[in-house]
Parts: sequence; C-alpha cells; structure tokens
Amino acid sequence: MNTYYLILKGMNKDFAISEFSTLWNLYLDETIELHQVQNVLYTFKSKHNISSEETFLSRLTFTNYLGLELFRGTSFDEFKSTLLNLDFSYLEGKTFGIEQKTFGQGEIIPSKELAHPIWDSLKNPKVNLKHPHTWFVNFQLPNSKDFIFTQGIYKNDKDYLERMPKLRPVAMPYTLKSDMARAACNLLNLKEESVVLDPFCGIGGILLEAYDLGFEVMGNDISFNDLELLRKNFKHYYPKAQYSLTCKDSSHPIFASNSIDGIVSDIPYGRSSRKLGIDLYKNFLENARNYLKPGSRMVIIYANFVEFKELALQYFKEVQEIDQYINKSMTRHILVLEKK
Ligand SMILES: C[S@@+](CC[C@H](N)C(=O)[O-])C[C@H]1O[C@@H](n2cnc3c(N)ncnc32)[C@H](O)[C@@H]1O
Repeated sequence: MNTYYLILKGMNKDFAISEFSTLWNLYLDETIELHQVQNVLYTFKSKHNISSEETFLSRLTFTNYLGLELFRGTSFDEFKSTLLNLDFSYLEGKTFGIEQKTFGQGEIIPSKELAHPIWDSLKNPKVNLKHPHTWFVNFQLPNSKDFIFTQGIYKNDKDYLERMPKLRPVAMPYTLKSDMARAACNLLNLKEESVVLDPFCGIGGILLEAYDLGFEVMGNDISFNDLELLRKNFKHYYPKAQYSLTCKDSSHPIFASNSIDGIVSDIPYGRSSRKLGIDLYKNFLENARNYLKPGSRMVIIYANFVEFKELALQYFKEVQEIDQYINKSMTRHILVLEKK
C-alpha cells in the first residue's frame, strides 16, 4: 500500500475532496477515503503507484499538490539519518528541489539543510527550486516535531485561471468562474470524449471548461445574444473548437432520448418569478432525465434561495450535495444527481 498526501484548496475543501476521489475512482477503479492530517493537508492509502504522467491529474482544479510518502519521523536527526540511508542515485544528472511546509506553526528548517543529505550522496547535484525535475515536500506538523517527507507527483499549474470571467473577451455578471465550472464538470464522473450538455449555457463559462477537459460539448440557451458571446469566448481560447449549439427554451424537449452522457449547468433563477422558475424546472427535469443515458449524472449549481432540490429528487437520485458559503445571504449548492 502507498500513502499519498494532498494539499487541497482551503476555500473549497469538500468540493476538492469529491473532485479528487471521483477522478481517482474513475481512472484507477479504486474507491479512496481521504483523511485530514492538518488544515488543508489530507492523506489516503492506495494500492496504485502513480506517476506524474497520469492523465487525470491535469483535470484537477481544487488540488494544489499530490505527493507520495517516502517516510515519516519525529525529529530532524531522524530525518537526516533516514535520508542518508535512501538511494537517490536516480537524481544523478537531473535537477531536484525540496520545499518545507509548516502550516504556520512548525519549526522552519532551511531548505539547504533539508537538501544536504541528498546533495552529499550525489556526484553532480543540481538544485532547481523553481522548476525541478524531481521535487520533494517536507511537511512539518505543528505542535510536534513530526514530519512527513513526500516526493511530488503533481503540482497544479492552474491554467484554468486564464479563463476566469475578467480575462475572457466577454463576461456577464451571471457567468460562472472557471474553477467552479471545471470542478463541477469533473463531478460528472466521465472520461474524455463523452457528450456533455449545458442546457442553460449562457456565454459558456461551463462549456469552455468542459471542452478543455476533452468532452464533446453541446450548449443550449434561450438567448441568441448569449450564444453569440459564447462563440466569441470559444474563438479566443479554442479557435478550432467544434461544438454544437441550439437556441431553444429548455422547458421543451430538444434532444433525443438516451443521447447525452452528462448534463452540467447553473440554472437560471429570479427571486421575483418563483412560479415561472418552478414550471421551467419541472419541465426541464423531465426532459433532462429523458436525454441522459441510464446511470448518467447531472450536476446542477444553484443558490440557497432557489427551490430546486425537492423537485429534482422527484426525477433523479441524489449522489451528493456540496455547500459553498459565498456570503451572509448566499450559499451555493452543487447538487450531483443520477438518472434513476
Ligand atoms: C445562470 S445563467 C448561466 C450562465 C452560464 N453558466 C455562463 O457561464 O455564462 C442562466 C442562463 O439560462 C438562460 N435561460 C433562461 N431561461 C431559459 C430557458 N427557458 N431555456 C433556456 N435557457 C434559458 C439565460 O439566458 C442564461 O444565459
């Protein structure tokens, strides 16, 4: 068994846990249970020995680091002697770097001191702290001398940040941020090339991420103008992208039965038009269930003041719901549903 460590994005821990375990299970066919070690540091055990080449790693949004435990200990002397006994000859001719993470409270050991035992064991050591070929992270736990020494497998390059609303050619106040959109797409539990639909796609906040993740994307929106703006956004990031768009009312049937692998959307709402909203949701839910293949998922993002869940559970089975505190008057829900 291997022991892995993750650094999750602090603001979105529940979302991060679901995203990571969904992708791990999807690509490696193994259910894992994440346990909190300290703050944003989580751990899990797995029979798999994965490398940084593993394709699903590039899909992650709310995981900042994944590393494999090389050893754990309780003092710096133990750290040095264990390191001296390990074989680091595979680093010969390649660059390496060591980082120390203390969570604000542990004893800070200078990187140079941490690197010494490895440095001394190599004929021609090369350190590169910015872009090392191999990197290690030592977690120094607060209130104790305990440490966990890990070898890095994945670091998030956060390229989805380039598609944040303020950096897109066109943004609207209702558009979704790229990190939220990407993580929501990952909860669909689908591999590349699956057919993914956003029936209220607006200017494409979700579909840009779905496309980047390798899905075949389909969008629908009642507003022709929004679809034009979506095209502008796609043209900017993916000039050669192929995707299909329809401009219809999602209360009516649009797509064929069993033709879609996953639906992901942030649904329209209006505090003042509750009745309208409920009728739209009811009709949309009936249609969505029909479009989806058996066992497929639908991920819906909605605000706490929208009456959606009770209705949705008349048509779908709940997989999970993640709550995200936005401010005093708003919590966002990410509801993962499965076709019954
Ligand atoms: C919350 S916004 C979606 C934003 C989108 N995720 C984005 O990033 O731009 C909801 C969208 O639903 C569309 N809409 C509202 N009523 C609709 C209906 N009955 N059928 C289809 N689309 C509708 C609106 O035009 C709006 O673009």
